[in-house]
Amino acid sequence: MDRHLTDDDLAAALRRDVRAGLTATPKTLPPKYFYDERGSRLFERITELDEYYPTRAERSILRERSAEIAEATGAETLLELGAGSGEKTRLLLDGLAATLRTYVPVDVSGDFLAETVAKIAADLPALDVHGVVADYERHLPLLPAGPRRLIAFLGGTVGNFHPADRAEFLAALRATMRPGDALLLGADLVKDPSRLVRAYDDAQGVTADFNRNVLRVLNKDLGADFDVAAFEHRSVWDADNEWIEMRLRATRAQRVRVAALDLDVAFAAGEEMRTEISAKFRPAGLEADLNRAGLALTEFWTDPPGDFSLSLSVPA
Ligand code: SAH
Ligand code: AVI
Repeated sequence: MDRHLTDDDLAAALRRDVRAGLTATPKTLPPKYFYDERGSRLFERITELDEYYPTRAERSILRERSAEIAEATGAETLLELGAGSGEKTRLLLDGLAATLRTYVPVDVSGDFLAETVAKIAADLPALDVHGVVADYERHLPLLPAGPRRLIAFLGGTVGNFHPADRAEFLAALRATMRPGDALLLGADLVKDPSRLVRAYDDAQGVTADFNRNVLRVLNKDLGADFDVAAFEHRSVWDADNEWIEMRLRATRAQRVRVAALDLDVAFAAGEEMRTEISAKFRPAGLEADLNRAGLALTEFWTDPPGDFSLSLSVPA
């Protein structure tokens, strides 16, 4: 495993981001801090929920299209951003087996990534599996180069960027790409808002636990004293921006101390803090985003009901 993100780097970024977010109006927290070991496991449970269709939909597209992806790319290296458990990626690894030599899963969540690397390396001994602990918002230029790279960014995680940050990210990604490289991008699509809201507010409350987990991370890593039970999970469809917002609502007025920042934060009763956006796309908008970053769309697939998309694009 390579580490571009040491524990000190991560701690410094957490302090900076949390100070900025908790002193802003309205308050926000960035979604990348959901994923400590507990948060990564909660996310895995989310992917199995009835209400959460994206993982199943993307898996069905990958199952259907892996051979075409292999044919179109002839990839020697698969670099996967925000790989998580790499569970769906196995379909891709199987499909690419004829040409693929190296799999590079990249994630901020180091312990979880180490497990992913160990499992995949044990199952596929002929493959060189090289995990990289990095933040894809900061470390793209440091990721391994090489001929015929397929860069996969699955799960709809591209929707977790704010549009301005997404544009910056796609341009930075494009800048690392050479002729012969390709981008495989999973993006969730606009649909009936009530299904979207339910996908982010499941009946078992797993997503609520996942959302509140960010407060536990702040308690553990910044010596904060959030009363996790005093924050309620909210899933809200923003029709103008076409994104789902996850929020945490303070159920009563309270003060929270964040010891590592020497910061006291007041929450009013009912105050809402944004913890994630999950943008939903329309095909034309997605293509325009890719084009603006200097990428040309070569394939665009959806699952049969049209819930989720997977696209392939190359440097324009
Ligand atoms: N690709 C998997 C997991 C998606 S969950 C799937 O499709 O199911 C999002 C993943 O991205 C988590 O594993 C999280 O740890 C990782 N992640 C979030 N922000 C990140 C960042 N800035 N840099 C690198 N990884 C990040
Ligand atoms: C990782 N990402 C694509 C998920 C999503 O759907 O936006 C994170 C998530 N948040 C709540 N449920 C799942």
